[in-house]
Amino acid sequence: MTNRMHSDFFMQGKELQALLSSQEKYPSPLRYPGGKAHRIEIVKKALDEANLQRNIYFIEPFAGGAGIGLKLMQTRKIHYLILNDIDYRIAAFFTAATKDANNLISAIEQIPVTVAEWRRQSKLINEPNCSILKTAIATLFLNRTSRGGILGAGCIGGLKQDGNYLIDARFNKKRIIEQITAIAYYGARIIVTNLDAIQIIKKYNNPVETGHSFFFIDPPYVTQGKALYKHFYNSRDHYKLSKFLEKVTIPFLLTYDNHPTIKELYRKFSTSILEATYSASVHKNDEELIISNQEFLTNQT
Ligand SMILES: C[S@@+](CC[C@H](N)C(=O)[O-])C[C@H]1O[C@@H](n2cnc3c(N)ncnc32)[C@H](O)[C@@H]1O
Repeated sequence: MTNRMHSDFFMQGKELQALLSSQEKYPSPLRYPGGKAHRIEIVKKALDEANLQRNIYFIEPFAGGAGIGLKLMQTRKIHYLILNDIDYRIAAFFTAATKDANNLISAIEQIPVTVAEWRRQSKLINEPNCSILKTAIATLFLNRTSRGGILGAGCIGGLKQDGNYLIDARFNKKRIIEQITAIAYYGARIIVTNLDAIQIIKKYNNPVETGHSFFFIDPPYVTQGKALYKHFYNSRDHYKLSKFLEKVTIPFLLTYDNHPTIKELYRKFSTSILEATYSASVHKNDEELIISNQEFLTNQT
C-alpha cells in the first residue's frame, strides 16, 4: 500500500470548510442497518434540555455507524465523541478513520470494486491477526458492497451480477473519501473503544463527567437484532442494561423497538413513541421508543 503524505489529500482553508459543511446530512461512510442519523433533531433537543456546560462529551456505547455523533461533531454541538462498539470490525474502522486516514484513503482509491475483491475481503475480514488497517478496509468495503450494509450478507447484485443493482451501486469513492477526510479532521477529539457497552457507561457515569456528558444509547433491537449484527442482545442482556441504567445519573437518550418487554423494563422512565422509518431493521408501520432519564419527552405513553 502506498504511504502518502498528509498534505496530498488533506484539504485546507475554504476547501476543507466547504467539505465539512457539505457533510452535515449523512456524515458516516458506513451504511448501518438500524442507523439513527435521521433522529438527529430529537437528540439535539435532548442535548439542549440537558443544559450541559462547555466541552461536551457525547458517548455512544453502541456506536454502529455513529451517524448521530458524527453529525453533532460536524455541526459543533459537541466537543468530544466517544465511539464504542463490541464488534472489533466497527472499532477498527473508526480507529483507522480517525488515526490512520491517509492509508485508509489510499486503499479506497486503489481498491477494485468487483466480486473477486468482495470474495477476497470476505475471507480476509475473518482472518486472525488481521491488522487494524486491513480490518478497517475490509469492513468498509463489505459494508458498502453487501446487501443492506450487513457484514455477512451476499454481495449487491449477486455473485453473478445479474441483479437490478451492481456491486458498486453504493460505492461512491469520492463521497466515501470526503466523509473519511471530514472524520479525520475531528480525529483527535474522537475516542474509539471496543468494549462491552455497560463497561463504557460505567466508566463515564461518574461525578467528574456530570454536567458535560451525554449518552446516546442504541442497543440491538429485541426483534431484529440477531438478524443484523454479529453481537446482539438476548432477554437477559436487555434486562441487565435496564437495571444498570436505573443507576445512571448522566443524561441519556435510549432508542428501542416498541416491544412490550422494553416498555415494561423502562416503565419508570420518560418515554415517547415514534413512527419508525423503513429500513433493513424495521418494517413499515413499526414504531420505535425513545426513552430518557430526563423529563423533556412530551408524548408520554
Ligand atoms: C442498533 S446498532 C447501533 C446503530 C447506530 N446507533 C447507528 O446510528 O448507526 C447496535 C450496535 O451495537 C453493537 N453491540 C451489540 N452488542 C453490544 C455490546 N454488548 N456492547 C457494545 N456494543 C454492542 C452492535 O455491534 C451494533 O453495531
